Amino acid sequence: MLTDQRTADAFANSWNNLPAGSVYTRDQFTDWMSPLTAADVAGRQVLELGCGNGSQMLHLLDWKPAFVEGVDLGDAILSACKNLAGRADENWKITKSDMTTFCGPGHDLVYSIGVLHHLDCPKDGFDAVIRNVKPGGRFHCWVYAEEGNGVIIKLVDPLRKITSHLPWWLTKYGVATPLAVPFFLYAKTVAALAGISGVEKLPLYQYCCWISNRDFRFFRHVAFDQLVTPQTVYINKATIESWLAGHADIDQHSTYIIMRNGNSWKFGGKRKEA
Ligand SMILES: C[S@@+](CC[C@H](N)C(=O)[O-])C[C@H]1O[C@@H](n2cnc3c(N)ncnc32)[C@H](O)[C@@H]1O
Repeated sequence: MLTDQRTADAFANSWNNLPAGSVYTRDQFTDWMSPLTAADVAGRQVLELGCGNGSQMLHLLDWKPAFVEGVDLGDAILSACKNLAGRADENWKITKSDMTTFCGPGHDLVYSIGVLHHLDCPKDGFDAVIRNVKPGGRFHCWVYAEEGNGVIIKLVDPLRKITSHLPWWLTKYGVATPLAVPFFLYAKTVAALAGISGVEKLPLYQYCCWISNRDFRFFRHVAFDQLVTPQTVYINKATIESWLAGHADIDQHSTYIIMRNGNSWKFGGKRKEA
């Protein structure tokens, strides 16, 4: 819990120093949620665990849920409330809480994007996702993969262990900004060369093709997010398989694990009917 609070405080420095609105494009949101679509959200009670500044919720509201609640442990909820207050919809709520102990009334859909790998105990976060799904409801998570992240694990993770102790502004402007320059140039070059035989073997090839559509500020946001957090783990497929297979409340015929951009996992399924 102590580590999670430090992590949430670090992320609040990231989220509360961004321009208003979602940091993600509509396409990014749709891709993160896939295989779920608007039809899985329309008219449903939805919960996001670890909602940050509400960037995913802003898009999700366009899918017309009956209601969406966002939960976050940090002061990022201040930005989330501001962002969501800018919308005409009133079918949302932001709650400040530790997701690992959060216990709601049971939602039709619970999702958690980019959070479990930052928790002191990721499995506790996964259990919280399932606990908050009502019988027959769905869940959907996204985490950093151990697979495909060799370069990040070798180069960025050791640096993160130092930068996460620095003042956030020093990490953002003194480390993340200069590092985002070669990252930006590499991704744009890889994407420009896509299609040439052998280029797909370059590190982070698929990820570069995905992120190269965004401008420099998004690269810096990603670099800062990587470097500001005191806690990150990279989760392998076998671990996710064991979480899914080992949970008595999950309908084992409903589960999926999908690699995203060659270096992360989307996974989900349904909770058993009562
Ligand atoms: C990388 S951000 C992801 C935010 C959002 N899901 C998104 O996709 O933009 C991770 C978020 O998890 C939150 N967080 C970390 N530990 C938490 C915990 N134990 N309970 C609730 N939120 C937590 C952080 O405060 C942070 O806002």
